[in-house]
Amino acid sequence: MIVGVPRERLSDEYRVALTPAGVRELTAAGHQVLVEQDAGAGCAIPDADFVRTGAQIVADPDELWGAADLVLKVKQPIEEEFGRLKLRRGQTLFTFLHLAADRACTDALVEAGNTAIAYETVQLADGSLPLLVPMSEVAGRMAPLVAANLLMRPAGGSGVLAPGVPGVAAAKVVILGAGIAGMAAATLAVGLHCRVFVLDRDLQKLRAADHHFRGALETVASSAHAIEEACLDADVVIGAVLVVGAKTPTLVPDELVAEMPEGSVLVDISVDQGGCFESSHPTTHSHPTFEAHGSLFYCVANMPGAVPHSSTHALTNATLPYTLEIAASGWRKAAAADPALARGVNVVEGHVTYRPVAEAHQLGYTELATLL
Ligand SMILES: NC(=O)c1ccc[n+]([C@@H]2O[C@H](COP(=O)([O-])OP(=O)(O)OC[C@H]3O[C@@H](n4cnc5c(N)ncnc54)[C@H](O)[C@@H]3O)[C@@H](O)[C@H]2O)c1
Repeated sequence: MIVGVPRERLSDEYRVALTPAGVRELTAAGHQVLVEQDAGAGCAIPDADFVRTGAQIVADPDELWGAADLVLKVKQPIEEEFGRLKLRRGQTLFTFLHLAADRACTDALVEAGNTAIAYETVQLADGSLPLLVPMSEVAGRMAPLVAANLLMRPAGGSGVLAPGVPGVAAAKVVILGAGIAGMAAATLAVGLHCRVFVLDRDLQKLRAADHHFRGALETVASSAHAIEEACLDADVVIGAVLVVGAKTPTLVPDELVAEMPEGSVLVDISVDQGGCFESSHPTTHSHPTFEAHGSLFYCVANMPGAVPHSSTHALTNATLPYTLEIAASGWRKAAAADPALARGVNVVEGHVTYRPVAEAHQLGYTELATLL
């Protein structure tokens, strides 16, 4: 199979969909890999590294799209790429798509008549989303680092040194949510010697956190009262909650923030689903923070974008096994053999095969099984 890896076109997207390690695995399996010139430049992977593991560098994106049986991307195609979706019949596109929120891209994929598989809807039998997990891990691990920097006076924070020093208390860090992002945040906050409190409504998650951290943090059953008690004297609050299929609940009202120490820091990882602090609104890497009620808010909706090198490797570690499955036998056989991958298939030859996308755009829905 010919596998093509274009350079990402979406603004502020610096990741690439395949690393040199992935090129090596694909070429070892007998596939040919075409990588667009400078595709890895944004995440510090030079063309020469791709060449070293067997890829061929292609300068013209039309040539790449026109030749590839399987195109690997990070983000959904944007308008300037729509024409390229039609350059090769029978092509499979594997990428983040988020089609329910993108009518133009949905229409372009339906019109192109090829197959599109979305990273974000690949789903294991237990309901987990293996290609979203790495991004929660990245954002979670970033959160205490970001907060520790923002606590410093020049950044607008209270002037507390996150790990403290002998004789001086470390920062109190409250983490709302003990899921993937919350546990990743806890790992770093504990590593920074902070005083860490993790709240969740799910007692199983708290049991797992308690067991894992062996006394290095405190777990608290989440309730409005518990959140208030934990946050009142917190130096840092990290929002990492998710209620599947719903907007994030507002867990920290403005009145509570107003009572927190002056210059405390709130990092809302959940802002991409609405945010869990009343004052949260999405910010960008160029203007990541704002001040409200005497505290500093960091609400970047795409935190992994700040660390494209690590994010690229984290994402491709998770996508590569599926890429290898598709390349080995084509998407049809791969999806028939792997139900998790089958749940990722969103569009097939003009048919929408993922129900939430069809419903979002009032398009006809076709059961994937009828097309396999
Ligand atoms: N900003 C970013 O760049 C970025 C990156 C990755 C993920 N995210 C977002 O981070 C959020 C968390 O993702 P995740 O993968 O960790 O989800 P997850 O499902 O693994 O964890 C969410 C946790 O929130 C808990 N929860 C739900 N309601 C709660 C409440 N009222 N009080 C306390 N805990 C509660 C759940 O029990 C669960 O343990 C999601 O909204 C996700 O979209 C944002």
